[in-house]
Amino acid sequence: MANNILITGGAGFIGSHLAESLLRDTDWKITIVDDLNDFYSPEIKRANLDEIRRSGDFQFFETDIRNFDSLKSVFDETEFDCIVHLAARAGVRPSLSHPRLYAETNITGTLNLLELARDYEVPQFVFGSSSSVYGVNEKVPFAEDDRIHQTISPYAATKAAGELLCHTYSHLFKIQCICLRFFTVYGARQRPDLAIHKFARLITEGKPIQLFGDGTTRRDYTYIDDIISGVRAAIDYDASAYEIFNLGESETTELSRLIELLEQNLDMKAVVDRQPMQPGDVPVTYADISKAKRLLKYNPQTKIEDGIPKFVEWFRNAEARTK
Ligand SMILES: NC(=O)c1ccc[n+]([C@@H]2O[C@H](COP(=O)([O-])OP(=O)(O)OC[C@H]3O[C@@H](n4cnc5c(N)ncnc54)[C@H](O)[C@@H]3O)[C@@H](O)[C@H]2O)c1
Repeated sequence: MANNILITGGAGFIGSHLAESLLRDTDWKITIVDDLNDFYSPEIKRANLDEIRRSGDFQFFETDIRNFDSLKSVFDETEFDCIVHLAARAGVRPSLSHPRLYAETNITGTLNLLELARDYEVPQFVFGSSSSVYGVNEKVPFAEDDRIHQTISPYAATKAAGELLCHTYSHLFKIQCICLRFFTVYGARQRPDLAIHKFARLITEGKPIQLFGDGTTRRDYTYIDDIISGVRAAIDYDASAYEIFNLGESETTELSRLIELLEQNLDMKAVVDRQPMQPGDVPVTYADISKAKRLLKYNPQTKIEDGIPKFVEWFRNAEARTK
């Protein structure tokens, strides 16, 4: 079992929850690498690091994964049993205007980490992939062995490339690689650019929310605690050298229903500004989670009707703290 773990992107939304969860079990030693870039406010990321510190001590390196030499110095200091690689340029729409930045971070950055895993003999690599790799897959729910040659954004293509690099390194250098395809994750500390958080902010400010398409696009929204239980199960998994797992709730919610739920829980009406579908956006994401259930004993618990009130409670408290 891995004890000494490197979490890249640990100051971000998912990474900070993972670090907290591991630190609650005393036998983990955590190192975080994050460049605290301004994709969203670095202040939020610093506050996330402060939150983690409440659960225990960890090493932190403000390092860019694109910079091989700086990253190497992290490996010179500590011997890792496992890397959970979550650092990435996330988000579909900005990847259309900054494809090179996405490729450098998500492909070269991933390659740098795999190279270091090879050089420093790190036996296990868990990669944060995305449901976006399914692109415009018409067959639902999406299963891990569906073809992923239909990506429709640079972001999705970089995640698919990351999975291929993982497979290559697992085959050539016997690094166990587990790729986790996350389906829209939400909960406390959710990235401010993601729909649920962005909508909640705009609704409470009385500003219009842009609704792309006719409101019938559907997403498989996954509550953060369920994702963390899946990531932890992947860290514990040792039965094969390479696997891909979907981590979703395996339930879909229409965009218009999501807005309704936010309105109910915020007790405010949304001002909706209807816009055409955006390039790069897929009409549906829907996870087949039977493989994760079977091999990881993954068992997500949080229906969107239960998760949104928890998100809103966190959101209200976070807003109150900043006033
Ligand atoms: N949140 C979701 O719904 C979702 C869905 C699918 C996949 N993912 C993937 O999960 C991972 C975590 O996502 P998140 O929502 O927590 O995003 P996030 O942006 O909150 O976290 C990513 C972290 O990586 C760091 N980072 C980015 N580029 C870096 C670089 N060059 N060097 C070092 N650190 C860098 C950022 O500063 C950030 O703190 C990402 O790989 C993302 O693509 C997330």
